[in-house]
Amino acid sequence: MKLTLDTDAGTLCVEDANGVDMMSLYSDRAFKVLSKQWVNVGWVQKHCYTFSWMGRPIIQLPDDMIRIQEMICRLKPDVIIETGVAHGGSLIYYASIAKAMDLPTRIVGVDIEIRPHNREAIEAHPLFDRITLIEGGSTEKSTLTQVGKHVKKKDTVLVILDSDHSRDHVLAELRAYSKWVSRDSYIVSTDGVMQQLARLPRAGADWDENNPVAANEIFVEENPDFVIEEPEWPFNESTLDFRVTHWPKCWLRRIA
Ligand SMILES: C[S@@+](CC[C@H](N)C(=O)[O-])C[C@H]1O[C@@H](n2cnc3c(N)ncnc32)[C@H](O)[C@@H]1O
Repeated sequence: MKLTLDTDAGTLCVEDANGVDMMSLYSDRAFKVLSKQWVNVGWVQKHCYTFSWMGRPIIQLPDDMIRIQEMICRLKPDVIIETGVAHGGSLIYYASIAKAMDLPTRIVGVDIEIRPHNREAIEAHPLFDRITLIEGGSTEKSTLTQVGKHVKKKDTVLVILDSDHSRDHVLAELRAYSKWVSRDSYIVSTDGVMQQLARLPRAGADWDENNPVAANEIFVEENPDFVIEEPEWPFNESTLDFRVTHWPKCWLRRIA
């Protein structure tokens, strides 16, 4: 694909296998084309590895963090379970929103390896009283038994999968963690962006097939209680209807 951006003329020209498409630079369509490339280039340049939240590194695109904040604000979950802790920034982020909203939300973080310096920093954080760390493979029986102890029968539960993003692992996580997701809540099976990154520098050559979206699609096919559905934005005074995101086709709502 060839993009010609002309700021003097105020146009964006897209040339690809479908032909030539000239559009106003200041249009939703141009923003969509440019956003996708911005996400791709930013991913290669490790843009999402440049943020922290309240002192802990958080490996996320800020747009996605605002969207998950909207969901926490709407659902007011009793429990948030996240696989993939790394430095702990995302756990601290959810805990900070819950505390700011005066919610009793408990945060459960699972990681196959919680490095000692990360554990130490997370445990020393002022928001740690809301957080439980579980070390173990996210689909291991012993891990699932420990996670299950933090979920009560009528809890509203939000699940975020951010560990190993290979298709088979995500599918195994979806099958294991979906039982805890309450009706009208979500599993956010993150990083579906991998599908569009295949063959870029730093990306796996098989990512067009081996990615979380592939797992999400198999999962909803075998489990009619879930649909892939992006939550409506609570505020939108634009004509935009797409996200700038690392999480395309990643929101799975429990409908039954
Ligand atoms: C992308 S990082 C998580 C980032 C974190 N959620 C954040 O927003 O800052 C992925 C983490 O998943 C963990 N991980 C990889 N495979 C795993 C598995 N099978 N079970 C549990 N955690 C795993 C890695 O150790 C790593 O810390």
